[in-house]
Amino acid sequence: MSTNRPLAPETATAQALHYLDPATGAVAPPIHPSSTFARDENYELRGGYNYSRYESPTIDLAEAIICRLENGAASQLFASGLAGIAAVFETLKPGAHVVVPKVMYFGALLWLRRVAAHKGMTLDQFDQGDIETLGKAVKPGKTELVWLETPANPTFEVIDIAEAARIAHAAGAVLGVDSTNAPPCTQRPLELGADISFHSATKFLNGHSDITGGVVTFAKKDARFEDLHLVRKHQGAVLGAFEAWLLIRGMRTLFVRFERQTANAMAIARHFEGHPKVTRVIYPGLESHPAHAIAKRQMTGGFGSMLSILTVGGAAEARRAAAAVKVFYPATSLGGVESLIEHRATVEGPDSPVPPTLLRVSVGIEHVSDLIADLEQALESI
Ligand SMILES: Cc1ncc(COP(=O)(O)O)c(C=O)c1O
Repeated sequence: MSTNRPLAPETATAQALHYLDPATGAVAPPIHPSSTFARDENYELRGGYNYSRYESPTIDLAEAIICRLENGAASQLFASGLAGIAAVFETLKPGAHVVVPKVMYFGALLWLRRVAAHKGMTLDQFDQGDIETLGKAVKPGKTELVWLETPANPTFEVIDIAEAARIAHAAGAVLGVDSTNAPPCTQRPLELGADISFHSATKFLNGHSDITGGVVTFAKKDARFEDLHLVRKHQGAVLGAFEAWLLIRGMRTLFVRFERQTANAMAIARHFEGHPKVTRVIYPGLESHPAHAIAKRQMTGGFGSMLSILTVGGAAEARRAAAAVKVFYPATSLGGVESLIEHRATVEGPDSPVPPTLLRVSVGIEHVSDLIADLEQALESI
């Protein structure tokens, strides 16, 4: 079966690129757990596969789906999001200058600080809420990579990716975007001028909180991409076949999950903005968000399901509310079908720049009335 016109991303994703097993007619993609692949009578590789640390069929299909969604040239899957980020930074020249946000996923920042200390990389940070600080942080002719995270975890600043691409490219740097909080059904950094798009596939892409994974997609299959592939192949942080299969299965419902999650998040953000126990709701979909107009322009499929609620009182009160939920899970991570809440400053520790009353909320696909009622009763504990 083949169609004459290109499939819309929703169709391509739901059907795993219109998968159909020619031998059996199966419409669900299989898992190929084999670590090794036999050669033919001429000692040639039969399907191009040799050893699963290099390439394997299940990983290839998952990568092809993501690459299609991102409108990229090529994707590489890793065993976790951080393994993917670490591999991108491994492709930099010794002593490279890189520019990263002040607020970004704290685990990635901790890792980059270690790379800076051990490998001589120079790390400068800028404020994603003020793009002029990016212009000041880049060093023309010196900066090799500018890294964004938009919306940024967990304060959800939004930066104009197209404008950041102009600034990075004018300085001779490559632009990479961690778009984990805005999956490709809403935000496609490569279409906005970025060179590299990254996702923790653990989050929205998988959507069911049952794998860790990371994916890096390049706008061009250039020398840096080939190096990234080499890094994965020889450092070995490749995703397992079963995880890749769960990722494929999860992605087939990405668009509908995201639509429901976005609608639930918008209702929650509106309900709790102005609530007597809440000082602020940070959600790119609210008109009160300082970069709402940019978010509206570049998150074309909706504002997503990540928001932060700042409570009255101090850290103790916020933590009490997070512990009082009965429907939400008081757990880390995000993007899954189940709603999660977390007191971020506790998780990040004493050096965290996150406000002490901030509760990060990842909204799932449950009935929104259960979610609102649960947060209402949890806030009563303050
Ligand atoms: C924005 C962002 N980037 C990267 C990561 C790291 O991904 P992983 O936990 O899959 O290694 C996370 C994890 O929470 C994240 O939120």
